Amino acid sequence: MYIIGFVALGLIAIAIYFFIIRPLTPLLLLKLKLGDKAILMFNPINGFIGLLMNSIKKNHDAMETIYAALRRNPNAKVILSNLIYKPCIILTGSEYIRDSFQEHHNFEKMNPFQIKSYMQKGLVFSEGERWKRQRNLLGSAFTFDKLKSRIPMMNQVVEDIALKDSKENLNEFISRMTGEIVIKSFFGELAQGFKLEGKDAQIALIELTGSMSQIQFENPFVFIKSLIFKERMWDIFPSQKEKDIVRRVDNVKMKVKEMILKRIEQLRQNPIQDKDKMVFLDLYVTEYLSQQSQQKEQLIDIEEIIHQFTTLFFVGTDTTATAIGTCLYYLAQYPEIQSEILEEVQEVIGQNEIKEEHLNKLVKINALIQEVLRLKNPSYSTIFRIVKNDTQLQEIKLKKGWALIQMQNASHKQEKYFDKATEFNYKRWLNKQKQVKNDNGYIYIPFGAGPRNCIGQHMAMMESKIIIALLVRKYKIILNPEVQQQIRFGIKFLYILEPDNCLLFEKRI
Ligand code: HEM
Repeated sequence: MYIIGFVALGLIAIAIYFFIIRPLTPLLLLKLKLGDKAILMFNPINGFIGLLMNSIKKNHDAMETIYAALRRNPNAKVILSNLIYKPCIILTGSEYIRDSFQEHHNFEKMNPFQIKSYMQKGLVFSEGERWKRQRNLLGSAFTFDKLKSRIPMMNQVVEDIALKDSKENLNEFISRMTGEIVIKSFFGELAQGFKLEGKDAQIALIELTGSMSQIQFENPFVFIKSLIFKERMWDIFPSQKEKDIVRRVDNVKMKVKEMILKRIEQLRQNPIQDKDKMVFLDLYVTEYLSQQSQQKEQLIDIEEIIHQFTTLFFVGTDTTATAIGTCLYYLAQYPEIQSEILEEVQEVIGQNEIKEEHLNKLVKINALIQEVLRLKNPSYSTIFRIVKNDTQLQEIKLKKGWALIQMQNASHKQEKYFDKATEFNYKRWLNKQKQVKNDNGYIYIPFGAGPRNCIGQHMAMMESKIIIALLVRKYKIILNPEVQQQIRFGIKFLYILEPDNCLLFEKRI
């Protein structure tokens, strides 16, 4: 009996040391050193994710607890918290964020899915020379000049999907469009009839990404497994759900590989000379073939091309869809703004298709998107990082293995930087002068900044404008009265409007 008691006490002592004393001690020392530059938000075991979840319960908004703390202490530059058993340093001061963006090689991105061989070789998770080579190759395809050839395709996707979709689930509806746009931008003609699991490919891919993130948020055991075992987590006591995810991933990779091999054969026979006509895959395949023909070192392999597709789909679909969904929510909440936006659409494009020359004239839609990215950026922080080696960041000595979160939107709700900072006022962006006060270039950076900023930002802005303009012209958007009281900004990997059926689309006559 005594022995069991001692063992139980021993285990409790170990747990207290591992989950509380070990992460909390360095945080307390940092708090002592930094004074009011730091806010301590230690949350045993549940850590930073627990803070967000509690904030949803308390404020109906995952970020509000953190933003309110920053407003109470405008001198704060960092929040000291934890990711389960690891100290977690959340950067909120723009100078700290700037330095961490510039010194990006000191921090490794935590792959949120940890699935073996899925996105690791793509642009988001690559590092060093591989990342530089990919950024150069893809950078040229993401300029406005290159993207503008996709405008007719974007118009077509919205027309087709808006007609077919039931529009009962906001995020699914919009991500069907943004997902289709990524797929067509990547594969071009080859995407025709692309199916996975017997469904349109973008639907199967959205469901797969959803299942991968849901399983970690819903099941703490899976989240802990991912922190400890990383990619090996899927082999350790996998549940039926986990096995199914791995099977679906293998299936996606197989189908994507078939399409890539087909394109390699097509371009081997008939190379494309005009770079403007190339979709993302063509750029890759042309480079792949030129390395072979010039007998250069074969840097690109098929696996990398597969990972690049899954990467661009993952980062390009839900982010943009969520931002667009939130824009539509504000239009439903403020019908007078919806009328102003509709008026602009009618003046600029009338009943025509949207063309390149219209985009710069949609200034109100542009302002609406900027205001949404200020207050409710789906990308509430960058991807979580792990400190690679002990390193100095401003006056903080970061230790190897600590977690780091760059909260690039932290200045967005502070009076120091924006007048009436917590108010939704899209018109602030129509005034060309001094929208951001005390700007050092790192205050309003919804797409991140520095060498690893968002490569897809022009594409995101372009498709958001097109989708919003065409939907507002076609539908009156209203709040669903049945769920109006339950509307909140939660977390589903991204910072997202819930519930899914919060908006109704009434056809305009
Ligand atoms: C509203 C929509 C979007 C937002 C708010 C957004 C935001 C961001 C942010 C904050 C980062 C930095 C992430 C980090 O450092 O951890 C990022 C990186 C990235 N984004 Fe976006 N993004 C959006 C849309 C897109 C689209 C449409 C694409 C492409 C199809 C895209 C492709 C990428 C890529 C490839 C990176 C990694 C770049 C690198 O590491 O060099 N994003 N995005």
